[in-house]
Amino acid sequence: MKWPLRTRLSLENSTPGHRGYSLPKPAGEEAPPLKSAKRRGAKLQLPELSELDVVRHYTRLSHLNYSIDGGMYPLGSCTMKYNPRINELTSGDSGFTHLHPLAPTTLVQGALELMYRLENILAEVAGFSRVTLQPGAGAQGEYAGIRMIRACLEERGDARRKILIPQSAHGTNPATAVICGYEVVQIGARKDNGLVDLAEVEALTREGDVAGIMVTNPNTIGLFETEIKKLSDLIHERGGLVYCDGANMNAMLGITRPGDAGVDVMHFNMHKTFTTPHGGGGPGCGGAGVSKTLVPYLPSPTVERDFETGEFTFRTDNKHSIGKVKDFYGHFLMMVRAYTYIRELGPQGLRKAGQDAILLANYVRARLREHYDIAFDRACMHEVVFTDKRQLKHGVKTVDIAKRLIDEGFHPPTVYFPLIVSGAMMIEPTETESLSTVEAFCEAMIKIAKEAEEPDAFKKYFEGCPREMPFGRINETKAAKELKLTWKML
Ligand SMILES: Cc1ncc(COP(=O)(O)O)c(C=O)c1O
Repeated sequence: MKWPLRTRLSLENSTPGHRGYSLPKPAGEEAPPLKSAKRRGAKLQLPELSELDVVRHYTRLSHLNYSIDGGMYPLGSCTMKYNPRINELTSGDSGFTHLHPLAPTTLVQGALELMYRLENILAEVAGFSRVTLQPGAGAQGEYAGIRMIRACLEERGDARRKILIPQSAHGTNPATAVICGYEVVQIGARKDNGLVDLAEVEALTREGDVAGIMVTNPNTIGLFETEIKKLSDLIHERGGLVYCDGANMNAMLGITRPGDAGVDVMHFNMHKTFTTPHGGGGPGCGGAGVSKTLVPYLPSPTVERDFETGEFTFRTDNKHSIGKVKDFYGHFLMMVRAYTYIRELGPQGLRKAGQDAILLANYVRARLREHYDIAFDRACMHEVVFTDKRQLKHGVKTVDIAKRLIDEGFHPPTVYFPLIVSGAMMIEPTETESLSTVEAFCEAMIKIAKEAEEPDAFKKYFEGCPREMPFGRINETKAAKELKLTWKML
C-alpha cells in the first residue's frame, strides 16, 4: 500500500541513482576493499533521493508536528506557553555558549553575576531567603527540596518517616518522597472546594512522625490553597516542614509569595513560569527557593558575592550541604533565558503575566461552563478543570472530545488528570495567548459540545477522530506497549 505523499517515508520516495549532490569523485581516493559486506553497509536499504526531495521530506515532516509556533496548546499542568525569541538571541550569544564549565571563576564573572542576580530575583519574587538554580528540572528541584528537609530533620535528631501528599498532586511528588526514603501518606481533597482538608492534616500529624507536606499551590485543579498559612503553621507546630510544588507559580507572580505563607522550600518550573524550554525532566532548569531554616542545606556549590571586592565565587565548603544534584552548576543557558524574560518584563510585567494567566483561564471557565461540567465551579487561577459528565450521557467521553478537537486545529487539553476528577479536561490558556485565539478555542469546544447533543452523535462526529489528520485514532495503549520505531515494522 502506498501512503499519500505527505506521509510517505523517504524510502518509499526513493528512486535508484538519485543523489543529493553531483560532485565528481575525488581522484585517488577509492574506498578501501570491503572487509565485511555488513560493515560496509552493502545491503543497507538507504533511500536515494535528490536534494529537493530530502528538503521536502523533512519540511513535510515538520509540518505534521503540532507546535507552539503553529497553534495553541491548552494543556493544563504541563504548561506549553510561548518562549519569546529574544531568549534564544541572548542565550545564543557566544559569550555564553563558549564558556567552559571548568573555567576559573575569575574568567566567568559575568556568568556568575547572572546566576547570582537570577537567584536573588527569584528569592524576592517568591519570598525566600535563598535559591539554588542547580536542579535540571522541576522534579529535580523537588528532589533537592525533600533532601534538604530530610537533612535538616536528621540534624535535629528527629528524622521522621512520612510525607503527606494530596491525591491531586503531580506524580513526581510521591516519586520524589519515595526516592528520598519517605513513606507517602495520601490526603484527599475537600468535597466542597477541592482544597486540602486541614482537619485531616491535623489528625494525621498527631503522632509526630510526619516530616512534612508536599502541597501544590495553586493546586492541580487550578485552585488557590487559601489556607496555606494555617497549613504551614500547623505542620511547623507539629515539628515538620512545608514543601510547596511551585510549578504553578505563574499564577502568583507579583500577587502573593509562598515564602510569606510559611513555605520552607519550593521548586520553580522555569519552563512554566519563566519561558525556558521544558526539558522533559532533563536538560531544563528547576530552581528551588528555601526559607532561612534550610539555607545551610542548599546544594553545593552556591554562588557567593564578596561585597568588599564585588567578586563572585563558587562556595563548595558548606559541610551541611546535601551536595551536588547536577553536574557543574546546572543548565546555565536556561538561566540566561529565564533572566532575559524576567528583565524584559520587569516587576510590573511579571505581575501582569500572572494576572493575564488567571484572567484568561477564568474567561475559558465562563465561556464553557454552560456547555461542560466544571469540577469545582469557583474562580480559578491559571487553569480550569472540566469533566465529560454532560457529554457522557450521549456516549461521548473526554478522549473523544480531545480527538475531535484536533480536527478543529487545536492540540487537546490535558485529559484524565488530576486523577481525583473523573473524565477531567484540564485547560490552561497561559498569558501568552491572545483573547482572539482563546475565543477561537472556546468556540471549537462549544461546537463540539453541541455536536455531542445531536442524535447519533458518536457515529456522526466522534468515531475514528481525528478524521482530518494523516492518521486517525490510534490504539494508544498498544502503541505505548508495542512501540515500533523502524520503517520495517510499518
Ligand atoms: C505540578 C507539577 N509538579 C511538578 C512537575 C515536574 O516538573 P518537570 O517536568 O520540570 O520535572 C510538573 C510538570 O511540569 C507539574 O505540572
